[in-house]
Parts: sequence; C-alpha cells; structure tokens
Amino acid sequence: MQRTRLRHAAVEPSGADRYIAVMSSATLFEPPPPARADALLSILIAPHAVLKARARPVREGDADDVRALLPRLLATMYKAPGIGLAAPQVGVKLRVTVVDLQQDNVRAPITLINPEVVAASEERATREEGCLSLPGQYADVTRPARVKVRYQDETGARREIEADGLLSACLQHEIDHLDGILFVDHLSALKRNMILRRLAKEMRQKAQ
Ligand code: NI
Repeated sequence: MQRTRLRHAAVEPSGADRYIAVMSSATLFEPPPPARADALLSILIAPHAVLKARARPVREGDADDVRALLPRLLATMYKAPGIGLAAPQVGVKLRVTVVDLQQDNVRAPITLINPEVVAASEERATREEGCLSLPGQYADVTRPARVKVRYQDETGARREIEADGLLSACLQHEIDHLDGILFVDHLSALKRNMILRRLAKEMRQKAQ
C-alpha cells in the first residue's frame, strides 16, 4: 500500500496499542540468516496478469525462497516508499506480504506468511488508499473497520493481530493482493476504469 496524501498516520495510536500478537510454538522455518541480499525488486504495475492471480500458500519446501525474498521485499517497500508490499506485486505468486506503517519514522516491519482474515467487524470505515502497483492513484475505499488476522511470521511462528485504523486497512489491502484483488476492485466499474485509464495514460507519458 502506498502512503496516501492525507497523513492518517499522524493521528493513529501507536502500533503497540492497536494490535496484540500472540505467538505459538509451531515453527516452520529456521530464523533467517543476516540479510545481505537485499537487492531491490521491480514492482509490477496494473494491469498485469500476476496482480490478478490468486497466490498459493507457502509450504515448508518454500522456506529457502521465502527467506531470500523477505529482505528484498522489505527493502523494495521502504525504497518505494510504501507501507505494505505483497509478493505478487514483485511477481512472486506466494501468500507473503510485509507491512510497516513506519509511524514517527520508526521501522517496525510485520512479515505475514499465509495470512487470513479470521474475523471482521460489522462496522465499516472509509479511508483513502493508494497502491505501489497503481502509482499516483488514490481513492476512498470502504472496508470492515477492524479485523483479526492469523498468519505465520518470518520464523514460522503462528501469530494473530487485531487491528483497526490504518493498520486494519493496510492488512486487508495486502491480503487482497494475495487473492488478485486491487483496491480499485472495491470501487464502482466507472471509478475503477477511470483510474486504470488515467494510470495507463500517465505510464505512457512517463515512458516517452
Ligand atoms: Ni497495493
């Protein structure tokens, strides 16, 4: 997810207040080695077939690939700059995403492997969203205000986050990417097509 023009982050409570992470003993992966290979990845721009595809769950056999991917995914997100980046956005069709709201410019990355929304509030919230795969495009998106997300962290430990505010929107936005859904897919066809046409035009102009 791209930082939006409105500085929502400034009015959010701190990350620690907004989610509770619960750790279990299950471990799929060894702890990652010191990150050296953090070369940047190219971010796919909509429309791209990979962005519309459903990513497959990470399995034990993927551990090496995921371990190699994570530092690069994070480095690419920070460089963009963004507050969330999903593996399909860099062409990797695995259910992996990273999120970091970077509140007060402090880095606190969350790595989510095989994340799923296990509960969502009836109450809905609308906020402006952007996406690194639709650079420069923003729109108000309405989603459940609060969600509970279950996932595995970079060590394979099972965790749970309860989130509201920007973190809730960001988690839902990133998990959508794993199902081939972009934020514009939550808009009317008219608005979606308008944004995609504008993006295509801007990318053409940039390429000239
Ligand atoms: Ni996005």
